[in-house]
Amino acid sequence: MTEEVPPTAVSDINLRLLCHDDIDVVKQLCGDWFPIEYPDSWYQDITSNKKFFSLGATYRGTIVGMIVAEIKSRTKVHKEDGDILASNFPVDTQVAYILSLGVVKEFRKHGIGSLLLESLKDHISTTAQDHCKAIYLHVLTTNNTAINFYENRDFRQHHYLPYYYSIRGVLKDGFTYVLYINGGHPPWTILLRLTDYLQHIGSTLASLSPCSIPHRIYRQAQSLLRSLLPWPGISAKSGIEYSRAT
Ligand SMILES: CC(C)(COP(=O)(O)OP(=O)(O)OC[C@H]1O[C@@H](n2cnc3c(N)ncnc32)[C@H](O)[C@@H]1OP(=O)(O)O)[C@@H](O)C(=O)NCCC(=O)NCCS
Repeated sequence: MTEEVPPTAVSDINLRLLCHDDIDVVKQLCGDWFPIEYPDSWYQDITSNKKFFSLGATYRGTIVGMIVAEIKSRTKVHKEDGDILASNFPVDTQVAYILSLGVVKEFRKHGIGSLLLESLKDHISTTAQDHCKAIYLHVLTTNNTAINFYENRDFRQHHYLPYYYSIRGVLKDGFTYVLYINGGHPPWTILLRLTDYLQHIGSTLASLSPCSIPHRIYRQAQSLLRSLLPWPGISAKSGIEYSRAT
């Protein structure tokens, strides 16, 4: 698509579920966006199988973006991400996995990716209500645009997955990113590892006084930590000390 995209393009975007007739276009788009080759059965599945939420964003009738996600039981999460949720959540707790999110290059930075993500959240709140506790995805460690996109929307890195992808025969590393919703949270062990790490960084930097910059970074680390602890049961105390709320 070479046409100039007006800044207001997002107001002309329509959303619709993908169907079997979209397979060829979707294949073409995924080929442009992702270095991974998916089998034909994958395209069949995401456009026909009702277990997938496959939403296209169209501009003047042409698909310019899409999101594909699956809401599933926490027991169906693959082994490498089995600890996304703390084990005390019931087995029927749900999570949403984003298989794919992409926008045609010329249409990026117009709000379409955000619109698709928000639509997924709306879908989750309508279908799974508050039983869905996390939205997660995998991303190449080198995909900085996508990583910034997710981090700016409160997704947090959960796992580093060495050699997770095979791209044209070469193994590449990935990350799992998670957004906790509806009171979802990771196991305490992961949380404690993270707080230990931040505490270590914070106290190392603060010990470099009298320079004021470490204190600022220390404060930023505190606020980062608070932002990572949005669920009840843990509360932020003074400094970078945290404990379960009583
Ligand atoms: C990641 C991706 C889906 C984002 O889609 P997008 O449509 O560009 O997303 P948005 O426009 O909603 O947001 C992107 C940035 O543009 C900004 N933006 C949105 N509208 C804007 C406008 N009118 N003017 C300027 N900037 C704007 C957003 O604020 C956002 O920046 P921020 O993260 O700092 O807030 C897109 O880059 C993409 O398709 N990448 C290739 C495929 C891919 O890697 N997918 C992810 C696999 S895990």
